[in-house]
Amino acid sequence: MKLKILVTAGDGIGPEVTREAVAVLQEVAAAGGHEFSFDEKRIGGVAIDTDGTPLPEETVQAALASDAVLLGAVGANKFNALSPDKRPEAGLLKIRAALGGFANLRPSFAFKELAVNSPLRAEIIDGADILFVRELLGGAYFGQPRAWDKEKGIGYNTMVYTRDEVARVARIAFQLAQKRRKKVTSVDKANVLEVSQLWRATVIEVAQEFPDVELEHQYVDAMAIHIMNRPRDFDVVVTENLFGDILTDESGVITGSLGMLPSATIGGKVNLYEPVHGSAPDIAGKGLANPLGAILTAALVLRHTAGLEAEAKVVESAVRKVLEQGFRTPDLARGDKTGLTVLSTTEMGAKVRETVKQLLRA
Ligand code: NAD
Ligand code: IPM
Ligand code: MN
Repeated sequence: MKLKILVTAGDGIGPEVTREAVAVLQEVAAAGGHEFSFDEKRIGGVAIDTDGTPLPEETVQAALASDAVLLGAVGANKFNALSPDKRPEAGLLKIRAALGGFANLRPSFAFKELAVNSPLRAEIIDGADILFVRELLGGAYFGQPRAWDKEKGIGYNTMVYTRDEVARVARIAFQLAQKRRKKVTSVDKANVLEVSQLWRATVIEVAQEFPDVELEHQYVDAMAIHIMNRPRDFDVVVTENLFGDILTDESGVITGSLGMLPSATIGGKVNLYEPVHGSAPDIAGKGLANPLGAILTAALVLRHTAGLEAEAKVVESAVRKVLEQGFRTPDLARGDKTGLTVLSTTEMGAKVRETVKQLLRA
């Protein structure tokens, strides 16, 4: 099959981990006789430096003309004083809006091998497998009005949703739950916020279309602790943009590192694929970044855009296998390192690639 992938590697560790994800996709293409082409465009801080804007029009056009966009991460400390609309992060929000994907799928699951790396006890996380469905185009991120009026000393954002925006993302959550353990947990703050009352009422309405799926509601503050205390009780978790941003980083504790989490954004013109983590300026350029979140993101490209489910599973198995064999990046090797081999970003990428090759041959 043919696939045109736009790579927007971005800032910090973005290029380091994306390179490894692309190499895995190239391995899959070579083994299966697929034609994957990769074009690269700028986004984020590197685009501000070169083009004077975090999202050049050329990048938008190339993204819209591709089958999938694979993004690394954006953001660098030197832009921290800029207003939100001028920062590297604005480029990411703009490309999300331009591509139109509203359902950001963020799977979080426990790897047996990484249990020792989690601050949670092994028996709590063992078998945990949550699929977060984060609404990605609404809420406080995009709501108007928004401002920081320095003279008046007032700052505000607007958390706003329409019924249709909630219904379409809820429907995706229920559809995905039907193929999993048939449970949806909707997370809101309906005890305080009107926007959350609309959210909850709409999710309840949509649930009527899915009588085979169990629906429960949780307030976001309580959910933050339930994820830590009893992660196994959750299947699909659907929530609004900002709550989803926070809860999915938190869920990195289940997997063992934020650097393990992939994401796919569906429902728009072109799917957008990005790991959950950011540009990690604290470790950028040192070969310390964990590329597995980006590689698992590549597996989601195979699953959700290429329709190559078997190959997606091979990539995921390869990640599990290298972990079984004791290979770790430094974020995955906290504490006792007996029996472990700590690898750099590129070494870890190479290990996964080798294993993908073996598995595809077998
Ligand atoms: P971050 O996710 O970049 O890093 C948080 C912590 O996790 C850091 O200690 C970092 O070293 C570690 N970490 C993250 N990914 C890792 C990986 N792959 N391997 C090993 N360790 C990893 O979050 P932050 O520090 O709050 O933000 C840094 C910048 O990234 C900010 O500008 C932020 O806005 C941006 N950001 C971008 C995205 C994105 O582009 N999708 C996502 C989140 C944050
Ligand atoms: C994420 C990031 C982004 C978000 C930022 C960088 C705009 O934190 O993808 O989780 O908040 O959506
Ligand atoms: Mn985030």
